Amino acid sequence: MSNTIRPTSFDEIMGQDEVVKRLRIMTNGCKNSGQVLPHVLIDGPPGLGKTTISSAIANEMGVNLYTVNAANVRSVKNLMPYLMGMEPRSVLFIDEIHRLPKLVEEFLYPVMEDFRIDMLVENKPESIDIPMFTMVGATTSGGSLSQPFYDRFTIKEHLSFYTPDVLAKLVGSNADKLGLNLTNEEMVEIAKRSKGTPRILNARLQWYKNYIDSYPEEKDIDTIFNSQGIDEHGFDCNDIKYINVLKNNRLNPLGLKSLSGMTGIAMETIENSIEPYMVRMGYVVRTQRGRILGKIN
Ligand SMILES: Nc1ncnc2c1ncn2[C@@H]1O[C@H](COP(=O)(O)OP(=O)(O)OP(=O)(O)O)[C@@H](O)[C@H]1O
Ligand SMILES: [Mg+2]
Repeated sequence: MSNTIRPTSFDEIMGQDEVVKRLRIMTNGCKNSGQVLPHVLIDGPPGLGKTTISSAIANEMGVNLYTVNAANVRSVKNLMPYLMGMEPRSVLFIDEIHRLPKLVEEFLYPVMEDFRIDMLVENKPESIDIPMFTMVGATTSGGSLSQPFYDRFTIKEHLSFYTPDVLAKLVGSNADKLGLNLTNEEMVEIAKRSKGTPRILNARLQWYKNYIDSYPEEKDIDTIFNSQGIDEHGFDCNDIKYINVLKNNRLNPLGLKSLSGMTGIAMETIENSIEPYMVRMGYVVRTQRGRILGKIN
């Protein structure tokens, strides 16, 4: 379903107003002057729209988009076909860019700055000029890029969690696309269970639609979502496990490793997927000694 309701232009993107406004200024400016768009780094928690915004950038510029996941890049060789073969001004989208091997990252410094590939040919250093392009990097962990790499992205944008109003509007607009009739109250209740995240919102909406298809008489939102293991905060079973461990250790701040051991959830999942929203909402507080439960009603 996400493909049919994924926005393809800046106009269709809801929320992130400041980010979209700045990107629009840059893309318009570059289009008008015929310049290549400077490199863009987009960071933020999963499901907030990094991939969506990156492909909208290419659409707005009217250029081709090439997508690479850094987890599949083992050496410079994996990137060569793109660097040598892309049409000028294309967008090269590198997802999970913090996963690039160090050597590839270093190779990219002159590529990004001067559109030049430095290599050794028969032990002699040689440089090849390549077409100008825009690199768009997406990462859930912006802080882990090395400084020189980070500095080569002229445009840096951070995506934050969506506000309840924007989420409720997004529920309404996506419900329409799915042919689902919802009251305002239902929109607000589904938005409340979406953890500030459009991807989760789409999943909640899909569940709601399927549930109502099978049980058209059911009106109680808690019944509809509890039957999927989702509580009134929108927490799923991993979130609930995580919160329960903190509840049971109120006097004892916990480190990431202990939390992972006690919940059975991978550290990366806790750090990148579970905690950003919990911390943002004040449900969890990170102290120097570890995580403690915050205010949760
Ligand atoms: N601003 C938005 N307006 C409307 N829909 C959105 C928006 N942002 C994201 N979405 C929807 O949410 C889904 C997830 O977004 P996307 O894949 O871009 O997130 P992401 O940040 O790239 O996540 P990940 O870190 O997991 O790669 C998309 O399929 C899209 O339909
Ligand atoms: Mg993505």
